[in-house]
Amino acid sequence: MSEGLVTVSYLGAIILFVLTLGGLSHQETARKGNIYGMIGMTIAVLATVFGPEVTNNIHLIIIAMLIGGSIGITLARKVDMTQMPELVAILHSLVGLAAVLVGYVNFMDETITFPTDIEKAIHQVEIYIGVLIGAVTFSGSVIAFGKLSGLIGGSPLILPARHWLNLVLLILSIWIGYEFVQHAETGDAMTYLLIMTVIALLFGIHMVMAIGGADMPVVVSMLNSYSGWAASATGFMLSNDLLIVVGALVGSSGAILSYIMCRAMNRNFISVIAGGFGTDTGTVTAGDAEDQGEVVPIETDEVTSLLQNAKEVMIIPGYGMAVAQAQHTVNEITKVLRDKKVNVRFGIHPVAGRMPGHMNVLLAEAKVPYDIVFEMDEINDDFPSIDVSIIIGANDIVNPSAQEDPNSPIAGMPVLECWKGTTTIVLKRSMATGYAGVQNPLFFKENTRMYFGDAKESLDAVLKELQ
Ligand code: TAP
Repeated sequence: MSEGLVTVSYLGAIILFVLTLGGLSHQETARKGNIYGMIGMTIAVLATVFGPEVTNNIHLIIIAMLIGGSIGITLARKVDMTQMPELVAILHSLVGLAAVLVGYVNFMDETITFPTDIEKAIHQVEIYIGVLIGAVTFSGSVIAFGKLSGLIGGSPLILPARHWLNLVLLILSIWIGYEFVQHAETGDAMTYLLIMTVIALLFGIHMVMAIGGADMPVVVSMLNSYSGWAASATGFMLSNDLLIVVGALVGSSGAILSYIMCRAMNRNFISVIAGGFGTDTGTVTAGDAEDQGEVVPIETDEVTSLLQNAKEVMIIPGYGMAVAQAQHTVNEITKVLRDKKVNVRFGIHPVAGRMPGHMNVLLAEAKVPYDIVFEMDEINDDFPSIDVSIIIGANDIVNPSAQEDPNSPIAGMPVLECWKGTTTIVLKRSMATGYAGVQNPLFFKENTRMYFGDAKESLDAVLKELQ
């Protein structure tokens, strides 16, 4: 493939990636966006593998792609929707690892020559920054994977003087970077690169360990952004324009997503990264429960009759709907109620579930009409006119203590104010807390009814009675 054809292919791929991002920003166009992305990536890979840069050993690249592709397809087919955040985190770690490896290979490649010392120094800086971002992304993503999959506890690790520690690591990295460039011609440069890699790996671990359960959404999007910058840095090292642009697209969209997540949770980005919010996950805090009063359980027939007699119903899905895989039953119930002229709407919290857009993906999969699915900001003022709110496996996102208790780990996070409606029905299996590990006063309110059980089984029973 000629150089000209490769350039045109890269340009086409870049346009397709921009269209992908545009498509992914709306539910209706998300499928099309994904298809653009797949076509763009196929063009990009083919143009790179068959381009003039790859002169020999194409068969090895193809074998590696077949092995990697098979692992990817197997994982993608096997993974449950509830495991998607972990999968995304571990995939980010691979981008980071690739940046580190490319950096080292570039550094050790003696065939690369530079006409001037300045160009060589620039290349050294590219390598250094690429390895630095890659190593932070790699170790941070591995820890995020551990936290999201429950292998590592969700409570923040707060080391004494942790801000000073981070500052010292940062200053040390800058100084080592300077020495690395100064000693480019000597064997010492490798030592500096190795020391910085260890520091960056430790920094990534510390950064994510310091972040508590409720603030994990910001970490997921932030690591998404880092993986983009790591790819971009790899692009600079390899002088590959496509990788630079695509990395920048991922990096900046991840940064925007982090900003949106922070705004949704009313958090300051810097303080989230500095760590210390959130506590342990998913524990039953019986003591708290007793302190707050009695809960009122409800049975299937009462739920059915409340729904049948309602004019305005708001459905609030959360992580438990994903666990129970109840979205299809939710859609069936929605259809039946709408046929009975009940106005059913969905209220989606920006951090519901375990990954950005988690609930939207599940509802789209179940074919819930897009025009009845609303973002929190669009419907939060409507609750006083809602007859019945059904909370399906959600907890933190409907916790009034975010507004009422300044000492709560989720204090200040905007929540869906369902308690302002006439009746709230909460579907969950027990009195266990949500991801942030805090008890929920909503369950003890006078107009709340607890419908205990697996969300899918409970909703199947309601659907049967409604029909
Ligand atoms: P959570 O607060 O985690 O609550 C989920 C609830 O679902 C639990 O209380 C659980 O109670 C219930 N549940 C689990 N399995 C169930 C089943 N089979 N049937 C019925 N109920 C079930 O979820 P949320 O309200 O969606 O809030 C999201 C939380 O995750 C926030 O704290 C957010 O910060 C955090 N987070 C979000 C993200 C993103 S990007 N969205 C990423 C990481 C973390 P039982 O065990 O009693 O059933």
